[in-house]
Amino acid sequence: MPEVAAGAIPSPNIWNTPHIYEIENRAVDPDARIYDAMAAIRPTEGATVLDIGCGTGYHLPFYSRTATRVIGVEPHAGLASLAERRCAGLPNVAIRVGTAQSVPVPDGSVDVACARWAYFFGPGCEPGLAELDRVVRRGGAAFVLDVDATRGPYGRWFRRWLTSYDPERVARFWTRKGWSRTELTIRWAFPTRKDLEAVLRIEFPAKIAEGFLAEVNGTEFDYAANLWWRRF
Ligand SMILES: C[S@@+](CC[C@H](N)C(=O)[O-])C[C@H]1O[C@@H](n2cnc3c(N)ncnc32)[C@H](O)[C@@H]1O
Repeated sequence: MPEVAAGAIPSPNIWNTPHIYEIENRAVDPDARIYDAMAAIRPTEGATVLDIGCGTGYHLPFYSRTATRVIGVEPHAGLASLAERRCAGLPNVAIRVGTAQSVPVPDGSVDVACARWAYFFGPGCEPGLAELDRVVRRGGAAFVLDVDATRGPYGRWFRRWLTSYDPERVARFWTRKGWSRTELTIRWAFPTRKDLEAVLRIEFPAKIAEGFLAEVNGTEFDYAANLWWRRF
């Protein structure tokens, strides 16, 4: 098996430094606004939940509390192994190596599909959307969480870094595809300044990270996110 399945989008933050991405995951959204917003749209009680691009499976134990079945799909075999290890004691969780473009689950077998900062970044993700059409059954819902680069300090730095990124074009893409948006402002709150610095340094090139760090006081900042979602 290749180390990374064909079609994977390089994700140096978690591929190269999963231990720092773990710090990031722990810091992101301590108020659980993302989980709450998703649950308000489509609860996971008794559901089959699919987490596409699950990385090291950080969110799978949470879904496993209410869902009947949880499937994490991840193209990076090493990360998939870490997810397996994390969920070893959870009998309702399975991890599969695969991609959003070729999801290794049967047709109409999923109630809630979600992707957090993974593959579904707007134009170009049509093959993954076709797979959602195939795997999510009627009554289900799909969620895509991504940065809102038009708002907040992180969005500003994101645009400074990826100057070609056009948030309006991305928003038009989702709207045209029939998806709705819930705008969220969440906190990224770290136990120490050292942790915050380590995380910003895996998210941005050095110069951008240092500029951002010069603006952030203390150990937390606000982060604007778009939760895109669609019912099936
Ligand atoms: C920024 S990480 C987020 C990981 C996880 N969703 C989380 O929140 O902890 C992006 C993940 O998407 C995965 N990925 C990259 N290309 C993908 C694809 N084509 N299909 C599914 N996942 C993909 C990467 O391997 C990586 O694990």
